[in-house]
Amino acid sequence: MTTKEDIKKQVRAAFDFRMAVRVYSDQKIPQEDLDYILDTAWLSPSSIGLEAWRFIVLEDKNIKEALKDAAWGAEYQLETASHFILLIAEKNARYDTESVKNSLVRRGLGEGEALAKRLATYESFQKNDMKTADNPRALFDWTAKQTYIALGNMMTAAAMIGIDSCPIEGFNYAKVNDILAQHGLINQEKEGIASMLSLGYRLRDPKHPRSRKPRSEVIFYDHSE
Ligand SMILES: Cc1cc2nc3c(=O)[nH]c(=O)nc-3n(C[C@H](O)[C@H](O)[C@H](O)COP(=O)(O)O)c2cc1C
Repeated sequence: MTTKEDIKKQVRAAFDFRMAVRVYSDQKIPQEDLDYILDTAWLSPSSIGLEAWRFIVLEDKNIKEALKDAAWGAEYQLETASHFILLIAEKNARYDTESVKNSLVRRGLGEGEALAKRLATYESFQKNDMKTADNPRALFDWTAKQTYIALGNMMTAAAMIGIDSCPIEGFNYAKVNDILAQHGLINQEKEGIASMLSLGYRLRDPKHPRSRKPRSEVIFYDHSE
């Protein structure tokens, strides 16, 4: 029987294994392993259950080539990764949009008083708490940052089965959006690139060991001195 201690060891081993991999071997990830990784993006949590995202597995070599100029942080990864995923976030997800209403419908809260009550809460949340309601940039940042949860989940899921990855935000957002729109992958009025993820198998081990701040500098309890 797998015990809790076994699982903790497996998860910790995955975190020790994971590192940002920039150059991959030519080994391909089997489709069922890719599907398993993508499922963790699909099933990730989102604020108010909005799921204001899409995950595009980029297969077209021409688009990859075009992206190289705009995505300096992904140059070798676009060339060598087994798979390359674009994390796309919705724009203008205001409290009064179909998108927000549909998230409530999905959760069985799409009618009558329940709907009105939730929408009023979201209106207040966006206007008074987040102060995003009338700021397209802030609204995009809100949905874009949620894609990072899916990004993290995919990286952990991959590492658990010995698949390498690298998160990517080293790119020119406007240029990448233009390229994706030109190739019909996104509708720029409604969505934009948030982040990217390369996946595959490392060509070689890292030259430098992983470095982190001491744990005591980042983990605190409220009664810490
Ligand atoms: C949000 C985010 C964006 C990143 N963008 C890039 C990138 O564009 N290109 C790249 O090579 N690495 C990128 N990285 C990888 C980081 O440089 C790397 O995770 C960090 O140096 C820690 O190293 P480790 O992942 O090997 O532990 C990014 C990491 C994060 C979390």
